[in-house]
Amino acid sequence: MGELDGRVAVITGSGRGIGFGIAERFAAAGAFIVIAEFDEGLGRQAEASLKARGYGVDFVHVDVRSSESVEAMRDAMVGGHGKIDILVNNAGLAQVGPTESFPLEDWHRQIDVMLTGVFLCTRSIGAHMLERGRGVILNISSIGGLGGWPLRAAYNAAKAGVISLTENVGTEWARRGVRVVGIAPGVTRTAILQQMVAEGRSTLERYNQRAALGRVAEVEEIASAAQFLVSDRASYITATTLVVDGGWTAWGNLPLT
Ligand SMILES: NC(=O)c1ccc[n+]([C@@H]2O[C@H](COP(=O)([O-])OP(=O)(O)OC[C@H]3O[C@@H](n4cnc5c(N)ncnc54)[C@H](O)[C@@H]3O)[C@@H](O)[C@H]2O)c1
Repeated sequence: MGELDGRVAVITGSGRGIGFGIAERFAAAGAFIVIAEFDEGLGRQAEASLKARGYGVDFVHVDVRSSESVEAMRDAMVGGHGKIDILVNNAGLAQVGPTESFPLEDWHRQIDVMLTGVFLCTRSIGAHMLERGRGVILNISSIGGLGGWPLRAAYNAAKAGVISLTENVGTEWARRGVRVVGIAPGVTRTAILQQMVAEGRSTLERYNQRAALGRVAEVEEIASAAQFLVSDRASYITATTLVVDGGWTAWGNLPLT
């Protein structure tokens, strides 16, 4: 018996990276997985990979920025599977640059995907969960939402908003059977990290050294925390965000040695 047997889990942006790692982990724990992804190629690839291992999985195209797209995804999945037990708001992207010349469209893209997208999916699938009187919503924010970090005004403002949404909606729905929880990952080995290194924003060595544990996170380590938070083991946890950052935030701005 898997811990998530019989649960239907919608994971946004799960074509690759942290979202796909969470999908693999939840599938191994018995959940039926909905790969809710904007990039059709990535989504189909992720679906095929889980199917080949014998897991129950559907790919559904979604743009979390669009209310119509999110509603259509919700209706198709509730229609097909009868219910949604778990929503993971994970879709994201990173665009960094000096605030004084930051393009408005890049500001909007990040706020739209990572803050408005979380609101739209939470509103739509949350309403379904409230009708059933049960469900868990897990929001993936970032350590970037917890403090200042040059060149990341839009990304970090979106993530700080997600941490606030988790607290606000979590308290609003706490007595109606729906938990809302979050993870703020530290720097994790995915395409976003590769992109930052390729753009010359930092080096893997610097990221490794900045974390107290002396290394960036692996996707499986974020996925492991995700499984705990959506499981019944976390039944008294709601309206809060778990920081999974290898001691990055606690280290603060003190010298590394
Ligand atoms: N990698 C890190 O170091 C790190 C650290 C902290 C937080 N995070 C957060 O974790 C989440 C996943 O990051 P990742 O590193 O796996 O990134 P990633 O780029 O590998 O994956 C993000 C996925 O989101 C999808 N997506 C983008 N826009 C979308 C949209 N409008 N609708 C639906 N899907 C969309 C992308 O196609 C992609 O598959 C993001 O929210 C990110 O901000 C990442």
